Order: sequence, then structure tokens, then C-alpha cells
Amino acid sequence: MEMTFAMIKPNGVSSGLIGRILERYESARLSVCAIKLHQMTSDDAKGFYAEHVEKPFFGELEEYMTKGPSIMVVLGGSDAIAKVRAINGATNPANADPGTIRHDFAPSMTENVVHSSDSPESAEREIAFWFKKEELYSYNAACQKAGTVMDK
Ligand code: CMP
Repeated sequence: MEMTFAMIKPNGVSSGLIGRILERYESARLSVCAIKLHQMTSDDAKGFYAEHVEKPFFGELEEYMTKGPSIMVVLGGSDAIAKVRAINGATNPANADPGTIRHDFAPSMTENVVHSSDSPESAEREIAFWFKKEELYSYNAACQKAGTVMDK
């Protein structure tokens, strides 16, 4: 079992896509181990996207990510990281396969509706960035690693 972090970005929330997106994750036998609605501040965006702060697209990304609340969610299950990335589709919706969230719902590369962790290391960092240990629930086998990840 593995856990990953995913986010439904502000245009996904404001367009009423929360239910449809979570349905895709849950249908892939992933469990919600933690979840919250949160509007990023500029400091949140700079911290969470630290590797992109110097990139030319960061200003646009920061404006987008802070304009409304996002759903922050921890998903657990077998191959959770790869599964969520496959369900989300390519970062650029123009390259996303039909049936993926970004192909079906994302208007542009910046406003690409969803985010998910790309490795076990980033999952651990991103889960800890948004959640306190007590906000993760180990109610089934898929969410069992919650305690150990956050104990580090
Ligand atoms: P995400 O998976 O959240 O990771 C970084 C985000 O920056 C990305 O999705 C897009 O929303 C945004 N972005 C905008 N332009 C680019 C780019 N050229 N390369 C990567 N990410 C970009």
C-alpha cells in the first residue's frame, strides 16, 4: 500500500468538479485518508511549488492557485502514486489521453485542474506540507501508512 497527495485546483472546485474527480479516484480503489478545502496564500504557493518559484510561469501559477480554494486530499491504495498520475493525465492537457481528468476538464497548461505527487519522496513532503498527523485517518488497509509517514 502507498499514499499520495492530490489536489483539485481552484478551477476544479469552482466548476463543480469535486464529486466527479473524487469518483474517479475512488473507482480506482483508492481511499481518502485525509481531505480539506483550503485557499492557498502566496506563501503557501511559494513553499509548495518551491522548485518552480524561479520559473517563468510561476507568477501565473501563483495567481491561479491563490484565487480560490482547492481540495487537498491524501489518497491511499496499491500503486497510489502511479494510479493518480495516470487518472490525472499529462501535465499539459493538450498531451493528455482521452478519459483522463486533464483531457476531459482542463482548459490550459497552467489551469490544469489537478495536481498529484510524482514520487514517494514528493508524496511524503506534500502530505506533510498540508496535513498534521492527526488529520490522517488509518481506517482501512489503504490508509494504514498514515501514521508512519507522519511520524518521521
Ligand atoms: P502541477 O502538476 O501542479 O505542477 C506545477 C504546475 O505549474 C503545473 O501543474 C501547472 O499547473 C503549472 N505550469 C504552468 N506552466 C508549466 C510548465 N511550462 N511546466 C510545468 N508546469 C507548468
